[in-house]
Amino acid sequence: MIIKKAEFVKSSTQVKDCPSGNLPEYAFIGRSNVGKSSLINMLCKRAKLAKTSSTPGKTQLINHFMVNNTWYLVDLPGYGYAKMPESERQKMTKMIRSYILDTENLVCLFLLIDSRLSMQKADREFLQFLGSNGVPFVLVFTKTDKLTKSQLSRNIEEYKISMHETWESMPAVFLTSALKKKGRDEILEFINSTLGE
Ligand code: GTP
Ligand code: MG
Repeated sequence: MIIKKAEFVKSSTQVKDCPSGNLPEYAFIGRSNVGKSSLINMLCKRAKLAKTSSTPGKTQLINHFMVNNTWYLVDLPGYGYAKMPESERQKMTKMIRSYILDTENLVCLFLLIDSRLSMQKADREFLQFLGSNGVPFVLVFTKTDKLTKSQLSRNIEEYKISMHETWESMPAVFLTSALKKKGRDEILEFINSTLGE
């Protein structure tokens, strides 16, 4: 798929403020700092479309970006940021979870995982939430440029083993690097193939 146009539409704090209409949405979620906003920019080939930062907790709202006038990429705040005050963290979790449960046009959630790390507690909890609510999702491993090929395949294998502790089958998996622009074609092809469904 070719991205001809990508534009910021709006930031919202709750689903009822999100853009109306029934365009398909693809949302990006994962721990703070995992690279959600960077991946959106990489997919759109626009370095500054979504705001990124080396400090966790940059994205705090639900951000809609319209692509080719026909579908949305949605940049969500990260979860599991330890330094955020507990009350803030709870507020954020509630915002993310209600976006996911209440957005009827959410086609698929991209769950981003830092390819350097084993399964973190926050990810485990989030996966449980997705499973018990039947939310369609795929796994996206990020920052693969920070690992050697063999370290990367070892980590992915270990992640799959952790997944199999609770999941019968694995969701689709994408390996990405926003820095090296890796995984772009595969993700856009996946989006293209699910758009008509
Ligand atoms: P929050 O909005 O705070 O939840 O973070 P986020 O998940 O949107 O992460 P963001 O895209 O802001 O990136 C966090 C940091 O990781 C930034 O310093 C990015 O430059 C860096 N980063 C993101 N993707 C990659 C990648 O593929 N490779 C490398 N080396 N760094 C990356
Ligand atoms: Mg962000």
